[in-house]
Amino acid sequence: EKAGFKHFMLKEIFEQPQAITNTVSGRINLETGEVVLPELTLGADALATIERISLVACGTSWHAALVAKYWIEKYAGIPVEVDIASEFRYRSLLVNDRVLTLAISQSGETADTLAGIRRAARLGSRVITICNVVGSTMTREADGTIYTHAGPEIGVASTKAFISQLAALFLFTLYLAQVRQAIPAEQRRRLGQQLIDSARVIEQLLPRVREQIGTMIESFYACRDFLFVGRGVNFPIALEGALKLKEISYIHAEGYAAGELKHGPIALIDRDMPVLAIVPQDAVYQKTVSNIEEIKARQGRLILIGTEGDTHLRTISDDIIYLPEVHEDLNPLIYTIPAQLLSYEIAVRRGCDVDQPRNLAKSVTVE
Ligand code: F6R
Repeated sequence: EKAGFKHFMLKEIFEQPQAITNTVSGRINLETGEVVLPELTLGADALATIERISLVACGTSWHAALVAKYWIEKYAGIPVEVDIASEFRYRSLLVNDRVLTLAISQSGETADTLAGIRRAARLGSRVITICNVVGSTMTREADGTIYTHAGPEIGVASTKAFISQLAALFLFTLYLAQVRQAIPAEQRRRLGQQLIDSARVIEQLLPRVREQIGTMIESFYACRDFLFVGRGVNFPIALEGALKLKEISYIHAEGYAAGELKHGPIALIDRDMPVLAIVPQDAVYQKTVSNIEEIKARQGRLILIGTEGDTHLRTISDDIIYLPEVHEDLNPLIYTIPAQLLSYEIAVRRGCDVDQPRNLAKSVTVE
């Protein structure tokens, strides 16, 4: 049942290219750039009057929501708010019929997220969900659904469901841009093509990156603390990397926006706390490089993940993992992979129960 893999988590990490393909398949026409989302049931009319989108989720799904805020605001031009569901359900909300509420959930059963959409619906909001489980409670209660089609996820730590949430959210962004005529069809077509191509890119990098990480972890697995940093669309990926590491290896880890380090966390830097930095050659590359040079100047231990051919990074890193260049807005899909594999290999090295971490349940159906 694990198809030759030692754990479900590893199997599911390697299923990610297929998960992206399944999620995107048949939903974008690569000649015209037209996106079709039939189960969404909200057409151009309903979406044309939306003034704001409220994204609601927990844990890893919340990280997907944080990435989507960057995408939707950039390509569809609609203001986006992102809430942790347990906060959303109890804070005072400015939600009404001009706000679209989008719940993101692998299981479709998470109690806080469910309570959040019920509350938004009572306030008059249209509710849609991005969900992996067909027929789950959330999909039954929402006005429309975008299924992720990642296939059943057994490992408690979410991997392929997250990647397919990102793929679905990118598609949804293109759909919004289409109905609101925010970007030209040709640009939509190109972005759609690049989304589809990301599956092949991940397929190719997986074995190589896994092997490289396997040779690196001996010097990291015994650490007590870890920092993950990134900027822009990759800031949520730093949060996700830190969450993966803490849940399966029980190492204390935190994720930060790289520009935020100087406002406090830089005081923690020493040789005992490795910093994993996501540094692709994107629009904020120079800014991120100056942030990590500050870590270097304080004798921090740097694991960098950057763009193939970026030789400058080698001069500042202790370890470096190179990834192929893709469209900068699709980097979150690619840059998630090394952090998943690092967490996995460290957890295995520490003898942890990777598929069933202590104190955690796959689906959190109680408050
Ligand atoms: C982390 C993880 C959790 C879930 C969270 C939400 O690896 O799996 O943080 O992401 O409990 O679950 P869903 O997406 O089912 O609502």
